[in-house]
Amino acid sequence: MLSRQVVEELRNRIEIAEVIGRSVTLRRAGRNLLGLCPFHNEKTPSFNVIPDKGIYHCFGCGAGGDVISFVQKTQGLSFMEAVKELAGTVGMVIEDRELSPEEHRRIAAKADLHDVAEAAAKYFEETLMVRPEGLPGREYLKKRGISLDTARKYRMGYTPEGWDRLATFLQRQHIPMELAVRAGVVKRNDRTGSFYDAFRGRITFVIPDEKGKPIAFGGRILPEIEKRDSNPTPKYLNSSESEIYEKSKTLYGLHWARNAIQRNDRVILVEGYFDAVSLWQSGVEEVVATCGTALTPAHLEKIRRLSRKAVALFDSDEAGMRAATKSMELFLDAGVEARRLDLQGAKDPDEYVQKYGGPAFEEALKRAEPLVEMVVRRTVEKEGSSAEGRVRALDSLAPVLRKLPAMLQVQMVGRVAGWLGLREEDVLGRLGERAVASPTTAAPSRWLPSKELSHLLWLVIHYPQQVAPEVMQTEPGWITDREDVLEAIAALCSGNSLPDVVSSMVDGDASTVLRKIAVQPALYEEQHAVGAARQILAKMELPQLDSQIAAIQLQISSPQALGDSSSTLALATKMQTLYARKVALAALSSRRA
Ligand code: UTP
Ligand code: MN
Repeated sequence: MLSRQVVEELRNRIEIAEVIGRSVTLRRAGRNLLGLCPFHNEKTPSFNVIPDKGIYHCFGCGAGGDVISFVQKTQGLSFMEAVKELAGTVGMVIEDRELSPEEHRRIAAKADLHDVAEAAAKYFEETLMVRPEGLPGREYLKKRGISLDTARKYRMGYTPEGWDRLATFLQRQHIPMELAVRAGVVKRNDRTGSFYDAFRGRITFVIPDEKGKPIAFGGRILPEIEKRDSNPTPKYLNSSESEIYEKSKTLYGLHWARNAIQRNDRVILVEGYFDAVSLWQSGVEEVVATCGTALTPAHLEKIRRLSRKAVALFDSDEAGMRAATKSMELFLDAGVEARRLDLQGAKDPDEYVQKYGGPAFEEALKRAEPLVEMVVRRTVEKEGSSAEGRVRALDSLAPVLRKLPAMLQVQMVGRVAGWLGLREEDVLGRLGERAVASPTTAAPSRWLPSKELSHLLWLVIHYPQQVAPEVMQTEPGWITDREDVLEAIAALCSGNSLPDVVSSMVDGDASTVLRKIAVQPALYEEQHAVGAARQILAKMELPQLDSQIAAIQLQISSPQALGDSSSTLALATKMQTLYARKVALAALSSRRA
């Protein structure tokens, strides 16, 4: 793997302001640079770049990190890819670690499969766009109101009837059939040993990976062929999983929607290929489709990196309801706020925008209901009001209610109680008392450090060398009980750079707080840094001393101690020391820096 030093050297060689400046217009604002945030829609700039600290931070949406994370987020790259990209611009060569022959083989095999998928995509595309045999496909798209421009953008295609048109095309390009089979576009007839196309007489959809390379396909049968065929064939066919295609991790359309998702800070989840394409065509670009598979935690992880808000447009039938209840828990676990929209007057989003247009859809979106509310309401309705029904409703809602953020939980418990005609205490009782109070079931609350701690963090960020000896002498528990923050402090004090520390932290409250503090204007001059740190640490220690003193006082006055003069003496001496320390600390902490 990449060594820390190499990454640090890269950060030093790269000018963060220059890299970000290429896509964001920045102007000076004191020590920092200010611009309009590329990660959310805003009219007044709250996106800060701090060149001398090597990080950026947006006060509007909380996005932030180092130059590598900026390139990752804006270009949808992995860490390693972003590092390589940046290294290239300053002429640094990044040595990958030695790969084993097995790994080399697997990478080469994947590259081969990518080539096959690309070749197949080209064949489908060309057939739809220009070949005579693509005519039925062109006509079908026209009938469905999909323009050729949209089809081109989404790399849609057509595969004519016939058994081996694609197979023949690939063979002419010297692509071994064995690879085409592994890529899922050609199948082998085990009886005769011949090869035939996986998709025939279908409109094809390229399923790209996050960088846009085709990894799989979906295909919709043309209605006239479906009707004519004596053997019933499914309306849609999808590539099976392969070395380059994992269904549970792939969302259709993410590649094209990424920028719009970040810009509009929401993702619209639909079920079908045509739903995604039609919405995009009518101007609703932040749309992705699950394509027949259920939503997975991996899907949500991909979404969460881009936005914490989702609107789901799933079927409102019984199966859709069950899926919604299931996905509810996934959304809650992922920390993505989900709403649900039930479209009136059309059977799916595709039909809706084709009939009423994009603006009407945007209007309808405003009526989206929080998914939790819908799940709760429908469960209560379904189970009815008999005594057993209420118990069943409560039982099936309990896991969802337990996962709700505290505020929302209070609200929903109230409603459930109302709907079921129960007292709130009874509903709470079902959830278990712990569920309400426990911080693990509540949503990650916005963590705010005390004033002392933020000043201390500021000092550690700006003068790590100077204040490290003071900080490292202090009992960590006195500073804060947050492990991540303590780790960050220790890393900074032992000489790691801020970008390094920020980017190795899990994205969350603590890393946001750290970035915010780094953006703050100068709080202390360098010559006052050590004094200020001592004073803050003294303030932090005082309450600890008080509780120690109180504990000793208790011991001294206990019956056992009264009869034992030597231990009383020891305790008294200890108390003396604590008092002396307290006086010294009090003097220190009240002196002005
Ligand atoms: P729908 O049956 O709702 O179809 O399936 P649709 O998207 O509205 O399709 P059109 O408008 O009739 O062309 C929703 C999604 O479920 C998957 C597909 O991804 C489809 O887009 N599906 C459906 C399959 O994988 N196989 C099928 O046989 C049917
Ligand atoms: Mn449809």
